[in-house]
Amino acid sequence: MIKSNIIASQQIHQKYGGVVPELASRAHLQHIVPVVDEALQQSRLTLRELDAIAFTQSPGLIGALLVGAQFAKSLAMSLTIPLIAVHHMQAHVLANLIPEHKPGFPFLCLTVSGGHTQIVRCDSPLDMKVIGQTIDDAAGEAFDKTAKMLGLPYPGGPLIDKYAKEGNPHAYRFTEPQIPGLDFSFSGLKTSILYFLQNAGKSNVYKETFLVSPEERQAFISANLNDICASVQERIISILLNKLRKASHETGIREICLAGGVSANSGLRDAIKRIGSSEGWKVYIPAFEYCTDNAAMIAITGHHKFLASQFAPLDISPAARASW
Ligand code: KG4
Ligand code: ZN
Repeated sequence: MIKSNIIASQQIHQKYGGVVPELASRAHLQHIVPVVDEALQQSRLTLRELDAIAFTQSPGLIGALLVGAQFAKSLAMSLTIPLIAVHHMQAHVLANLIPEHKPGFPFLCLTVSGGHTQIVRCDSPLDMKVIGQTIDDAAGEAFDKTAKMLGLPYPGGPLIDKYAKEGNPHAYRFTEPQIPGLDFSFSGLKTSILYFLQNAGKSNVYKETFLVSPEERQAFISANLNDICASVQERIISILLNKLRKASHETGIREICLAGGVSANSGLRDAIKRIGSSEGWKVYIPAFEYCTDNAAMIAITGHHKFLASQFAPLDISPAARASW
């Protein structure tokens, strides 16, 4: 049972148009003690009642990971309770085990966040395999970078979602990359959106001199923002769901989950349910608060590792990148 799920958002990055690693580490330092205090208060627990401490070991920004790892290690050591190291992407997948209505095993999970895009086959809570992933940008990055090109603040994904609701998803057509197997690519899409905007919709291939003036470009974006957002979102969703459909056909698995920040996208949530009913899938989508980065997903993963006695040594290091 989830007793608290406290999130300290970092607004500081907005004015820079993306996460600034050093500012993220400092904000982690400022927030970590108040967040833990608030979690204890909300859950009406004392430190002495804790059975173990789970923390994100990887992947992520090394400075932010260091703050969490050092804090978790110190707390576990002082309370003489086990320490549990959690893989951030595994935790996104296991967010699907938080609600009452859980997927059966094996299930496939489309994990879409700011840094990752993966199709994961999950045979039991701790037995997972990445069977497809992006070869370049992540889906969340495609949303955020498109938003930046449109002059929208960071993170742009939620804003594209909002404007897309008012737009025509078929107003503009961006081509779908042809990547073999279950892997994804978003960098070509990003480049074609850049040229499309530079040329105010007149072309989405590179031109040595832009076909329009900066004023005309801005006017085009302002007048067509909803349609541009809807069309970009439609393409990102079709790239994701076509591969997910392929993965389901290849594995014969029809228990399908969504995870990661981009699974908060309303267009993606509607589309996966629609495709799911035609493909005979059982679709599971975590509540919004468990889609974007959150403490509960680390806790549920910690819970399963605790049951399996998968504890970490106290000299474990965080890792910016890690395979699993
Ligand atoms: O999983 P997450 O919270 O953090 C990472 O581990 O990266 O994902 C953040 C990503 C960002 O790229 C953000 O723009 C995207 O999730 N995102 C969305 C929406 N809400 C968050 N993208 C599209 N539509 C949304 N509604
Ligand atoms: Zn995440």
